Amino acid sequence: MSEERLVSSLALNEEENTDTSLRPLKLNDYIGQEKIKENINIFISAAKGREESLDHVLLSGPPGLGKTTLAVIIANEMGKPIRKTSGPAIERPGDLAAILTNLEPGEILFIDEIHRLHRSIEEIVYPAMEDFALDIVIGKGPAARTLRIDLPPFTLIGATTRPGLLSSPLRDRFGISSRLDYYNEKELMGIVKRAANILSIEIELEGASEIAKRSRGTPRIANRLLKRVRDYAMVKASGLINKDVTVKALELFEIDKYGLDNVDRMILDSIIVKFGGGPVGLDTLAASVSEESDTITDVYEPFLLKVGLLQKTPRGRIATELAYKHLGYKAGSKYANQLFDE
Ligand SMILES: Nc1ncnc2c1ncn2[C@@H]1O[C@H](COP(=O)(O)OP(=O)(O)OP(=O)(O)O)[C@@H](O)[C@H]1O
Ligand SMILES: [Mg+2]
Repeated sequence: MSEERLVSSLALNEEENTDTSLRPLKLNDYIGQEKIKENINIFISAAKGREESLDHVLLSGPPGLGKTTLAVIIANEMGKPIRKTSGPAIERPGDLAAILTNLEPGEILFIDEIHRLHRSIEEIVYPAMEDFALDIVIGKGPAARTLRIDLPPFTLIGATTRPGLLSSPLRDRFGISSRLDYYNEKELMGIVKRAANILSIEIELEGASEIAKRSRGTPRIANRLLKRVRDYAMVKASGLINKDVTVKALELFEIDKYGLDNVDRMILDSIIVKFGGGPVGLDTLAASVSEESDTITDVYEPFLLKVGLLQKTPRGRIATELAYKHLGYKAGSKYANQLFDE
């Protein structure tokens, strides 16, 4: 069910195709992540100046923040083609060998979800990254020998939402490692305005600001909310997205001023009402809202923790004072007392 959520940071099925028109193609059009852009700009200029391939790049960060987008931009700025694959898609060593031996000099190889690369394949990646070489074992047993094939110089760009799951030998072979962070409201407004412009949507500043506020720091969500609000504006109003239309649309979609949806609120409400504000264990909490524990930790919890509505303690999850306020429980209410008496 989480994949259907309007505020899911994961790409929805339909978005895989339509999203491409909104992807910036140049570093200058990529909004936010200033430090990363500055660094990458220097590395790209230096590599071009030396007429070398760019050092390998690891891009990490939560879903929807622009890792794939940045990889495509790097290829464009280098003036090189990009070939895309993903960790789980490379099943056998031969799959990777085929890709590597077909690369053009300087080509970018993008491996999404690189933390899910099989161990047996990682071993091929090491010499490829370090020496631009492929070691092939021929024969079996005592007669086996290794044949080394030279590869064209290339740049591996790995993307991951879980950098902690990367083995350290793999992580160490990336010369450039950038961690993308959530976007602030101003940056998200810029992203919304840019997308509105591309899609020929009329939007007022205050409308863009409302959408930015409820996008959970995530460009993918900002673009999605913009499209849904546009639909509302066309059907229920003149088509113009102003503050009033945006607030009404998002109210209808049940997305509140923090960007929380019904399930987020149900989780917080459950902690406050059923468990006296917490602490409550993960499995107990998951059962009380009829969700899987993994879904709570991977999908819902990160954002609630990030904005300070939820806290993790050794004894379980607790709802913060901010959560009480946000859900309209006044301090001094019977639920609030239970938390503050602890
Ligand atoms: N800095 C940015 N400026 C403008 N638009 C952006 C930016 N970053 C991302 N976007 C928009 O957000 C969408 C999602 O970005 P992208 O697909 O690159 O995220 P991702 O980090 O690769 O996500 P995932 O982890 O799910 O693969 C893009 O299609 C693009 O339109
Ligand atoms: Mg991606």
